[in-house]
Amino acid sequence: MRVLVTAGPTREALDPVRYLTNRSSGKMGYAMADAFARAGHRVLLVSGPTVLAVPDGVDFVPIESAAEMFDAVQRHIGRMDAAVFAAAVADSRPVEVCDHKIKKTGETLTLELVRTADILGAVRGGFGFTGTLVGFAAETRDLEANAKEKLKRKGCDLVIANDVSKPGIGFDSDRNEVLLVFPDHVEALPEDEKHHLAPRIVREIERIAAERGT
Ligand code: CTP
Repeated sequence: MRVLVTAGPTREALDPVRYLTNRSSGKMGYAMADAFARAGHRVLLVSGPTVLAVPDGVDFVPIESAAEMFDAVQRHIGRMDAAVFAAAVADSRPVEVCDHKIKKTGETLTLELVRTADILGAVRGGFGFTGTLVGFAAETRDLEANAKEKLKRKGCDLVIANDVSKPGIGFDSDRNEVLLVFPDHVEALPEDEKHHLAPRIVREIERIAAERGT
């Protein structure tokens, strides 16, 4: 299969030296890209800034902002059989990006933010993608119900959900504990290294793709 994987955080510029971002390390997305490549698939990794090495045999498109990730996905998704959206895309960005470094003025500084485009949400309707589609859901409560809602709303075949309020797993950790939410059933994978979970999830995605005939 040809597989697109998004990973890492995005950076939303405020001025030439500052940006808004989040704590995503990119580890889960890179582990997925690596596991797909080791299983013999052709992988395109679209990633925000991380300290991680690009896995062997993986094609790489570096991006910074949500808008750049949107453009890269839109450009490449038509050639893909499957797509896995592991990136922690910023949900909002500053309305205005200052050309010059913002100077200290008063005691408070008010930032006006606007929603970024939902990349995963655009894949089915907007980009017309008919392949196997996998999203992630980072939740702090009602994990299963929220993931099911995301699966339906974004037209996914699988949503990989994790509870980001649990210490030691998820964001910025080498370990994770996930719930695989399919349209007709749910399966819990016990806590493990992201590098051990990824090949297991890849096998599930291969199975879905075979069933769909993509
Ligand atoms: N996603 C995306 N583009 C965005 C936001 C999210 O592609 N602008 C993708 C993520 O990569 C992930 C999934 O959508 O696969 C997460 O969905 P989202 O509804 O954004 O979930 P949360 O970030 O958990 O947001 P919330 O619960 O606040 O709706």
